[in-house]
Amino acid sequence: MNTYKLILKRRTIRKFSNKKIKQADLVDCINAARLAPSSANLQPLEYILVTKNLNLVFECTHWAGYLKDGAPKHNEHPNAYIFILSNTEISKQAKFDVGLAAQNIILTALERGIASCILGNLEREKLSKILSIPEKYFIELAVVLGYPKQISIEDKFKGDVKYWLDEKQVLHVPKKSLKDIIHKETY
Ligand SMILES: Cc1cc2nc3c(=O)[nH]c(=O)nc-3n(C[C@H](O)[C@H](O)[C@H](O)COP(=O)(O)O)c2cc1C
Repeated sequence: MNTYKLILKRRTIRKFSNKKIKQADLVDCINAARLAPSSANLQPLEYILVTKNLNLVFECTHWAGYLKDGAPKHNEHPNAYIFILSNTEISKQAKFDVGLAAQNIILTALERGIASCILGNLEREKLSKILSIPEKYFIELAVVLGYPKQISIEDKFKGDVKYWLDEKQVLHVPKKSLKDIIHKETY
């Protein structure tokens, strides 16, 4: 699938099948992150790939703030977690780098049929201990991955940003229309 179609297709998925992701696919995702643009080419980011003891890290995550029942149930957990760390001794403003790296991970995975969710709402102190992360690193985001067990679709934005589940458990994500956000030549 070409990149534009892949981007149109991508939606956050929070419920996953138990099919294992090949380690080589996960490593390719991190390699794609490695090659993302980096401010001043400082490359402050490092990654921890977690595919074992997943319950330990799951306990440190928070899901779908707008939904009552949005978190994955026991048999819907992600198959892998990629934690994006920034080395604060190299840069304390790594947010743009983080976003670009995360998107490279997500699109590389999606091209192989693997769905994802970015998690920013993390219990970072607990995670740092569990993952033995040295103090100079900040856990920026987790990208969780798995084969999808949920359908999510773009919905028309009608003034409310909250995503919602319909009676068939399809997730609807309101997105502003192109005409409302595009300005040509001047505002
Ligand atoms: C920086 C960032 C942090 C996020 N943190 C969380 C999170 O902690 N938990 C969660 O369930 N989703 C999280 N998300 C996913 C967003 O809720 C999701 O991208 C948004 O609802 C739009 O849906 P879409 O990705 O399908 O377009 C995060 C997304 C971003 C970009």
